[in-house]
Amino acid sequence: MKTILVTGGAGFIGSNYIRLVLQQHSDVQVLNLDALTYAGNLENLSAVERAPRYTFLKADICDAAALDAITASVDEIVHFAAESHVDRSIEDAATFLRTNVLGTQTLLDFARRRGVARFVHVSTDEVYGSLGPTDPAFSETTPLAPNSPYAASKAGSDLLARAAFHTHSMPVLITRCSNNYGPYQFPEKLIPLMIANAMEGKQLPVYGDGMNVRDWIHVEDHCRAVDLVRRDGRVGEVYNVGGRSERRNIDVVRTILRALGHGEELIRYVKDRLGHDRRYAINDEKIRAELGYATLHNFEDGLAATVAWYQQQRPWWERVRSGDYRGYYERMYGSRLAQP
Ligand code: NAD
Ligand code: TYD
Repeated sequence: MKTILVTGGAGFIGSNYIRLVLQQHSDVQVLNLDALTYAGNLENLSAVERAPRYTFLKADICDAAALDAITASVDEIVHFAAESHVDRSIEDAATFLRTNVLGTQTLLDFARRRGVARFVHVSTDEVYGSLGPTDPAFSETTPLAPNSPYAASKAGSDLLARAAFHTHSMPVLITRCSNNYGPYQFPEKLIPLMIANAMEGKQLPVYGDGMNVRDWIHVEDHCRAVDLVRRDGRVGEVYNVGGRSERRNIDVVRTILRALGHGEELIRYVKDRLGHDRRYAINDEKIRAELGYATLHNFEDGLAATVAWYQQQRPWWERVRSGDYRGYYERMYGSRLAQP
């Protein structure tokens, strides 16, 4: 049985990844290490929380002693833990530097001490900066030019992962993915925020002119890409992951409103985000050609299914919005916390 340490597994993408790995590989056990910041919600993992091959450890990736206290063997690491929201990084960059930069280095050091066989660093396309309307999509060789404190901190961690490969010959692999959407996304990001606000009859704040473009990918497609890279990727390589679904924000918002049977009266154009990147687009030829990657979801069907999920799972996001989700950890684990 192989043990994969997944960091940030209580977040949006990490929780989807843990469910996928446990379902697809019967010879894998998962140790989910998460600090449970505001973005961590163990309820996202209620489907697997009692599974024998799943263990949760509440710990901070910046805490080297907590990492060293892990007694279980760690064969591979998939590193999702991060501060992930651009608007929060504009308000306060410090926690982004601590977790994304220092935390990643602390985790790399731990991985080196343990001699882990694979270290997948989950980076982002935002490290490449912003594109003009006719620029070619980002490829793996596009120079890094991050524009927000979030993107700059992710570029720092991305380069530290690269340096660990070159300096210490560590088996590091890096993925750079575009904007994810799907179940369990925290309702501060564009798509779940707009769905939840529309369902509550609240205004939908569209930044600037609403013409910024993002390349959307379903979270399950991203997770499958990360797992392909973990298993078959070449160490030291970077793999871009995209959805081939460039959409303007205002068009995404209108599609959501239509799916919910609303008109456009809730849309409010608000002051633009500072330094707002205009367009992201991903060239994903490398992962397709080398690893046989292909997406399973197209954007329109995936978005419709996501809207339906937020309708069916209304209590999930209502507990997030009210803050009630914060008590889930104590209710679930109480004093009988698993000690791996
Ligand atoms: P998220 O904010 O939903 O989840 C982050 C998780 O990390 C949370 O569970 C949080 O508790 C945990 N965490 C934060 N700081 C920690 C620390 N110091 N120690 C341990 N755990 C900590 O984020 P997400 O959207 O699931 O993104 C996951 C990863 O994927 C991030 O690295 C992000 O940069 C990257 N990414 C995200 C997207 C996207 O569209 N969401 C796209 C490309 C890449
Ligand atoms: P977001 O989901 O925060 O992802 P990112 O900034 O990492 O791409 O935002 C996606 C796009 O939607 C981005 O162009 C900013 C815009 N946006 C709004 O117009 N209104 C909002 O309330 C939010 C959260 C985002």
